[in-house]
Amino acid sequence: MAYEIKPLPFDKELDGISAKTNEIHHDKLYKGYVDKANAISEELRKLRDEITVGSAPGGLPAQVGNPTYSKLRALKLGETFAINGVYLHEWFFGALGGDGDFNKAPELSAMISEKWGSVENFQKYFGECAMAARGWAVLAWDLHEKRLKQYNGDTHDHAVWGCIPILALDVYEHAYFIDHGSDRKAYIAAFWKNLNWEVLEAMFKKVRTVGLD
Ligand SMILES: [Fe+2]
Repeated sequence: MAYEIKPLPFDKELDGISAKTNEIHHDKLYKGYVDKANAISEELRKLRDEITVGSAPGGLPAQVGNPTYSKLRALKLGETFAINGVYLHEWFFGALGGDGDFNKAPELSAMISEKWGSVENFQKYFGECAMAARGWAVLAWDLHEKRLKQYNGDTHDHAVWGCIPILALDVYEHAYFIDHGSDRKAYIAAFWKNLNWEVLEAMFKKVRTVGLD
């Protein structure tokens, strides 16, 4: 199944995140990850056929899976980068277009307050984590621990496995430089202002009972 572009769930112009930024970010950069995810999947399908069907009579050509450099290795590295790029941007864009009112997420807010003291405290902590990240700040449901965790990722494929993001904040410079220059804090403030907590609440309700034990 091919990856498909999900449209923005809001009008492009947001308070503090301009239409120009959203156009470039969604229509070009996010679309680029979707396109690459599909191209890589197609190339991997061809290689898989070579490895499986094609290998029967004489065995595999040498070095197909070479770990220093091989086409398979390059595709596998690109695969996680591109596909996480697709998913993380969908979590990010999908939760924008709201009014920032966390009272619209009563169950999530209660669990956040239980862990961090209050939603305001969580926003301060998460915001600082976002300042410390080079790519993504994420609030996730950790299936191992069955609780909320904050994790950072410097790239799309830098993640803790077994966690489902509830909130993903893109802090790559392309997400804010046009609107705020190097003032990432101003962008993070705009992000909170436009956050749709109803979307977060719906995701939290889907995952909060799921665990690995
Ligand atoms: Fe991005």
